[in-house]
Amino acid sequence: MPDASAGSERFFTDHYVNLRAPHASDDIAAQLRETGLVTLDGLTTRRAVLASASRFMAITPHPHGAPDGLTLIHDTGRHAYRAGFAGFGNGELHAHTERSGSPNPPRLILLVCLQPASAGGETLLADGLDVYARLVGQNRAVAIAFSQPRTAYFGTGTGHASQVFTIQADGRISIRLRQDDLARWSPIVRPYLPHLRSAVTASQHRLTLQAGQGYLLDNHRWLHARTRFAGDRRLLRALGEPCVALPNGFTPRRAASVLPCRAKPSDGPSTPFTSNPPTR
Ligand SMILES: [Fe+2]
Repeated sequence: MPDASAGSERFFTDHYVNLRAPHASDDIAAQLRETGLVTLDGLTTRRAVLASASRFMAITPHPHGAPDGLTLIHDTGRHAYRAGFAGFGNGELHAHTERSGSPNPPRLILLVCLQPASAGGETLLADGLDVYARLVGQNRAVAIAFSQPRTAYFGTGTGHASQVFTIQADGRISIRLRQDDLARWSPIVRPYLPHLRSAVTASQHRLTLQAGQGYLLDNHRWLHARTRFAGDRRLLRALGEPCVALPNGFTPRRAASVLPCRAKPSDGPSTPFTSNPPTR
């Protein structure tokens, strides 16, 4: 059985950039463009987290954020069972992108651990590039289905009809996902959800963040998740738009024959979502 701790350290090291190095900003920008993920350390205070966030992004406010734009992610003891608030509990969080129910989700997430859990609370990261490649490799129809326009509805009544994979005009692909009670699926893709979930699971890397460690990732490329935890786990999160040019999503390894086919309006119950969420 693989050593999870060693795997986490290797994954952290493979994506690590030293913030204090002379050309750190250039290195981070280049790595964001290349892989969409950077791991960082030495961020032990709120001021340090805010300074780093401001260095890489124009911070966008979040409904649960503080006036400085940062959001404290911890178990509040009162949010765990409210739809859309699971992040403020101590349960498992399935792989998702941030703000999937908004028309324009933030490009960047900076998440820094101030205090790790006493047990669990590990981060699971999956590169959308890998998820997409697995789906194409295993069953091309699944990748095509999840690229069909408006086959998912994410959020509440003011949410957003979209699709898991959005193929841009330049051939790059961005990803958007949530898997909680605020995700609703068209019959076009519902039969394929187990395929998607297994591709995500197979693509996930485990990361055990220590105090002061964190990650900066492209929210249009990477999925993040969390395991259940115990203890007073505390993290700070910033969302925002990059200060440098960052091409959207990823370039797929094999894309030529996986372009989406638009469903016809006469497709009855299999039609994609309109602007309103379906009733359940
Ligand atoms: Fe999240």
